[in-house]
Amino acid sequence: MKLQERVAIITGSGRGIGREGALAFAREGAKVVVADFDAESGGQTAADIAATGAEALFVQVNVADRASVNAMVEAVLAKFGGIDILVNNAGITADASLAKMTEEAWDRVIAVNLKGVFNCTQAVLPTMIAKKYGRIINTSSVVGRFGNFGQTNYAATKAGVIGMTMTWCKELAAKGITVNAVAPGFILTEMTAKMPENVLAMMRDKAPARRLGLPADIANAYVFLAQEESGFINGHVLAVDGGLTL
Ligand code: NAI
Repeated sequence: MKLQERVAIITGSGRGIGREGALAFAREGAKVVVADFDAESGGQTAADIAATGAEALFVQVNVADRASVNAMVEAVLAKFGGIDILVNNAGITADASLAKMTEEAWDRVIAVNLKGVFNCTQAVLPTMIAKKYGRIINTSSVVGRFGNFGQTNYAATKAGVIGMTMTWCKELAAKGITVNAVAPGFILTEMTAKMPENVLAMMRDKAPARRLGLPADIANAYVFLAQEESGFINGHVLAVDGGLTL
């Protein structure tokens, strides 16, 4: 097993990509912290993992809120005694063209997708530094590299995540911690279910793979980057998009 005995926090793992990541980490032997704003789906993911005989802990958290994030880390340390892996997967959209985007929509997406990643990473840092070991995986997006109509706020956060990934690689490599990003293409989850069908069809046809992604496609990349053996991969942005961006 690739993640035997590792303690992994995956934010936004109640549903979608994060849930698939949590299930995959558990299959690889990790003790999984399902960290989500939504208690119902988060509790369900943790229960589904526990039903397989693996260890899981649900913690309700709002990644945008520092006190909530600090409480999450305290709860994880009390239960498992350390944190080896953090996947900053939680993310939201609030789309509108630049002309129509409200300040509230800008602030909300920045708070979750950008400040949330900063909050969670800063909060797990002391325990990772003490152990001289850590794997941090940030979820960016194809939109963070190339932009997308109607996603000024979202694109800013996902590009910002790439900037933080490269910065933290430089700051933390000497402490035994790697920081990488995954940049998914268009993946079939509730997030993309909000997008118009013709836009999704366009993205499907544009990708050499001629399909949209599945949550398992991204979960697989999370597992790969979270392994101890991936320790020389650092500061990288891994596109998982079926070749969409070529
Ligand atoms: P989703 O909307 O299906 O799930 C997001 C999860 O995050 C939900 O369980 C939600 O409750 C949780 N969440 C939202 N705000 C939170 C907060 N403040 N604190 C804690 N948890 C919170 O999203 P999906 O599609 O699974 O996306 C996961 C990540 O992948 C996001 O960062 C997203 O931006 C990114 N991504 C998704 C793509 C897609 O096509 N679905 C493409 C590229 C990136």
